[in-house]
Amino acid sequence: MIEKPHSSTVHSLIGVPQAPAHTAQDSKATEEHHTSTGPSLIAVSQTPECTAHHFKAECKSPSRSVVKRLNMNSPVKSPMKPLLLASPRRSPRKLNNENKASPQRSLMKALQSPLHSSSPSSLVSRLSLASPPSCKKNLAMGLFKPNVSAYRSLRQSLNTGTPSVLVCREKQADEIREFLTHHLTQGKPGSLYISGAPGTGKTASLNSNLESLQVKRIKTVFLNCMTLKTTAAIYKTIASELSLSVSSSERENKNAIEKALTISRHPILLMLDEVDQLDSKNQEVLYTIFEWPALPCSSLVLVGIANSLDLTDRILPRLQALPNFKPKLLHFPPYTKAEIVKIITHRIKEANLGEVQVIRPAAIQLLAGKVASIAGDVRKALDVCRRAVELCETQARKQAVLKPSNASPQKASKTSLDSVVPKMVEIPQILSIFNEVYGSRVVSAVTNAPESFSLQQKILICCLLLILKHARSKDVTLGKVFDHSLF
Ligand SMILES: Nc1ncnc2c1ncn2[C@@H]1O[C@H](COP(=O)(O)OP(=O)(O)OP(=O)(O)O)[C@@H](O)[C@H]1O
Ligand SMILES: [Mg+2]
Repeated sequence: MIEKPHSSTVHSLIGVPQAPAHTAQDSKATEEHHTSTGPSLIAVSQTPECTAHHFKAECKSPSRSVVKRLNMNSPVKSPMKPLLLASPRRSPRKLNNENKASPQRSLMKALQSPLHSSSPSSLVSRLSLASPPSCKKNLAMGLFKPNVSAYRSLRQSLNTGTPSVLVCREKQADEIREFLTHHLTQGKPGSLYISGAPGTGKTASLNSNLESLQVKRIKTVFLNCMTLKTTAAIYKTIASELSLSVSSSERENKNAIEKALTISRHPILLMLDEVDQLDSKNQEVLYTIFEWPALPCSSLVLVGIANSLDLTDRILPRLQALPNFKPKLLHFPPYTKAEIVKIITHRIKEANLGEVQVIRPAAIQLLAGKVASIAGDVRKALDVCRRAVELCETQARKQAVLKPSNASPQKASKTSLDSVVPKMVEIPQILSIFNEVYGSRVVSAVTNAPESFSLQQKILICCLLLILKHARSKDVTLGKVFDHSLF
């Protein structure tokens, strides 16, 4: 324990007129004063690092400037006061007695102290120690709720609604725009069939094109065929969207639509999303709709969207006989790994997080690779990222963070946005959510094996294993399997 010298010692050492000896009351008053200016005092006693460092530096050069500083300071403000108070266990009486002691005795006592075998000037240098400003700063820390605004912004940005910017779909978007502008401005009927796997940006591309469409005076109908209860109900829905009188008879509704299409002076743009839902017996409904642009004086521009690549060839071969009205085909390929990374990175940029990283870039790469290898569905990739950010946010909300307590709330939020977030989305989190979303096919096949294989499949597997065990050659013919199964 470092023995702290007191005021009389210092004064006698530096040869200044000694301040009047402290009474018990004086000591108490001084103590109160220093307690009120508490942080600096506590800093001296609580931050040994700072003290030790300072002490060492000044011990080496028992400088005159130190002495000067002491001379100039008033007794109350003297830096040795913190040292007096730094021994809180001492009673005021004891302090008082020590204050009354003669300078010589004090000096002797100080010199006898095991830790103060150095020269008197070193003692002085110790007394010059004041709490450095940095130590004072550290003290003003507190535990606060973490700022989760970065998570929130990113979560919102990773939504699966129609995006403001479609990344990596410039070519397809241009083709849609060209088709629509050409047919709608010239009043030429026609049809476009957009195909592609789920989450490849088909609907989003069409919607974003509609928003920027410059053609005026057109009637637009957008219909998701999934929402229809029956395929025949489509006539009723279209008739009502075109503000025609709706009848209970499907045939009447169909006739009313066909009449409206042929007499309309303005183009009618009909968009049917998930059009393969209209796949019915004899494809009657699909044929009817895809033949509407071929009606005499038709003003219909039709856009059909579905997943299957060959719907028009497979289901509507009759349309091949009408070369002028054959639907134009546009395919959306699955997103590649690089494209998925680009889309996610763009969404992160849109969240305006500055330098803050919420998702580890390696985790994005891994997710993009996995999604691309399955179906290139960017909706799933965005869902996984959003869920991972959500989980991190929930965990971060439960944590308390250490930060300066004297910063204003605005300043504090800015500071935490500038720094790292309390918790980052890492590879394991992305992996576990990815497995949740897609379900681990291999794992589920193995764990549910008894239920998932039929009796015939089980017999087949047993036969194959038996043959492989006993046969010399690894070639297994169907005949061999049949023979074993009869066994
Ligand atoms: N190129 C892209 N850039 C940014 N976001 C995209 C892009 N492509 C898709 N998305 C996001 O994925 C979501 C799903 O895309 P979209 O609805 O267009 O898929 P889809 O091809 O129509 O799928 P489905 O066949 O299931 O209807 C979009 O709402 C959008 O948020
Ligand atoms: Mg869609």
